[in-house]
Amino acid sequence: MNAIHVDKLTKHFNTKVLDDVSFDVQSGELLALIGPSGSGKSTLMRHLSGLVTANKGSDSNISILGNSIQSSGKLAKDVRATRVKVGCVFQQFNLVNRLTVLTNVLIGALGTIPAWRGYLGFFTQEEKVRALDALDRVGLREHAHKKAAHLSGGQQQRVAIARVLMQEADVILADEPIASLDPRSARVVMDMLEKINKADGKTVIVTLHQVDVARKYCPRIVALREGKVFFNGAREQLTDEVMFSLYEEDAKEMLNHESPELSPMVETLAAAG
Ligand SMILES: Nc1ncnc2c1ncn2[C@@H]1O[C@H](COP(=O)(O)OP(=O)(O)OP(=O)(O)O)[C@@H](O)[C@H]1O
Ligand SMILES: [Mg+2]
Repeated sequence: MNAIHVDKLTKHFNTKVLDDVSFDVQSGELLALIGPSGSGKSTLMRHLSGLVTANKGSDSNISILGNSIQSSGKLAKDVRATRVKVGCVFQQFNLVNRLTVLTNVLIGALGTIPAWRGYLGFFTQEEKVRALDALDRVGLREHAHKKAAHLSGGQQQRVAIARVLMQEADVILADEPIASLDPRSARVVMDMLEKINKADGKTVIVTLHQVDVARKYCPRIVALREGKVFFNGAREQLTDEVMFSLYEEDAKEMLNHESPELSPMVETLAAAG
């Protein structure tokens, strides 16, 4: 089943930021969206969640789980109902620092409970149990009553993942979820996203700077360059050589290999390019 459908997405701010972008994501896929800084990854993710609309009057269409998010630059009327099924994870975690970890996870339920309960911060016992279970899954149950601000960056990102689990989102959009983390925390967070994808069958799009990480975790990769889709295919096809032909100088930064034995190859390719 098709989980995400993007067709002819075009967005201009002062310049063209997304240019005729089309791709589909099947239900249960774990897809990496890569590209150099400024290539339009975050803008694309914001269009998927309906936070930004495409150019008015363009042929742009986005649907998620068969429901329209936006069409020709206009949000769909029932976009709220679809948004509940789309969970977002951000580079800066977006937790409420002064609230407890548990409350931050409970916030994931706000889209599906009556508004008055949200305003009063009134959650049922069942919701609290589910939030604790979500914290259990990310290994942070014992931190439930700490303030979010008192956790490390890696732990805060795991709370953000627990919040998405609480939301029971079917689609997870993670924009640079590991860009602010040390390598070990980054691995833990990517392992968790992979596990949620595999065990729960959630559809996940993750934007990444590191091509290594994209190739390690994501069977399919979409690469943007200057707002256009430059590559859409299996990770095996995105070789270092293809990376260099697509990204030229930017590839050097993106092929930030963890393994030192690969660096000479990168240098050779860079010199050749
Ligand atoms: N609201 C806006 N108004 C004007 N320009 C914008 C706006 N949002 C994004 N842009 C421009 O769109 C381009 C793409 O930005 P975007 O943040 O999507 O890139 P990115 O691929 O996510 O980059 P990074 O890897 O640095 O996160 C940039 O040139 C940016 O300045
Ligand atoms: Mg970005």
